[in-house]
Amino acid sequence: MKKIGEMKIVSQKEIAKNIFQLILQGKLVSEIERPGQFVHMKVGEGIDPLLRRPISICEIDRENQIMTCIYRTEGKGTTWLSKKQQGEYINVLGPLGNGFPVQMKSGKVALLIGGGIGVPPLYELSKQLRNRDIQVIHVLGFQTKSAVFLTKEFQRLGVTYIVTDDGSYGEKGFVTDVLKKQNFDFDRLYACGPTPMLKALEQKFPEKEVYLSLEERMSCGIGACFACIRPTKDREDKKGYRKICSDGPVFQAGEVIL
Ligand code: FES
Repeated sequence: MKKIGEMKIVSQKEIAKNIFQLILQGKLVSEIERPGQFVHMKVGEGIDPLLRRPISICEIDRENQIMTCIYRTEGKGTTWLSKKQQGEYINVLGPLGNGFPVQMKSGKVALLIGGGIGVPPLYELSKQLRNRDIQVIHVLGFQTKSAVFLTKEFQRLGVTYIVTDDGSYGEKGFVTDVLKKQNFDFDRLYACGPTPMLKALEQKFPEKEVYLSLEERMSCGIGACFACIRPTKDREDKKGYRKICSDGPVFQAGEVIL
């Protein structure tokens, strides 16, 4: 069930260029059901800027009601957020959306692919899969060395391949280059990142069970404004569209047109 309330900042730090790790404490954490759900944070004083910002959840500590969020500063709102400090409060609405399904038989293999700011939600997903005795393989892509984050954390959970567009960290290339080279054998694929990357993965694995988390600018975040709709692929689908904020952000490959 979604809640709205003040969450206390436990800590905040810049972990890569313009990438911030914000740790928050509050009751809302108990409501998070799946990795891949997100929260909508109020940014700025008063009504400026007017909108909340969707921020992904990277890790949950249910017992202590703590969640770790990671976001990139992209404008006035997120820059304001990045200046908030330990002990201050943020107004948070969430958890929102439908996340990644984690039910899988133990011993199966999951391939997790993240691009840039799409990487954080995969961390909680990987932890939960590991707790179910699922073998995890990570492929993480970043633009350049200064934008790389969380690599050690992922390496602790399973084998991790890292690529950067310019080759300044890890291998040079895109996540799809790693897939070509390694030819992984896996049972299910999860991905989060820019749409061209998701599209390439959907095309590459038409026979596989693939879950994709879409990145989109959002307004209301709760399915009320229609700012985030995507048409469905299936022409027989009565509604003809899905809302990324409330039907997604995670969809099975083939459900919406990317
Ligand atoms: Fe308003 Fe999705 S952001 S319906």
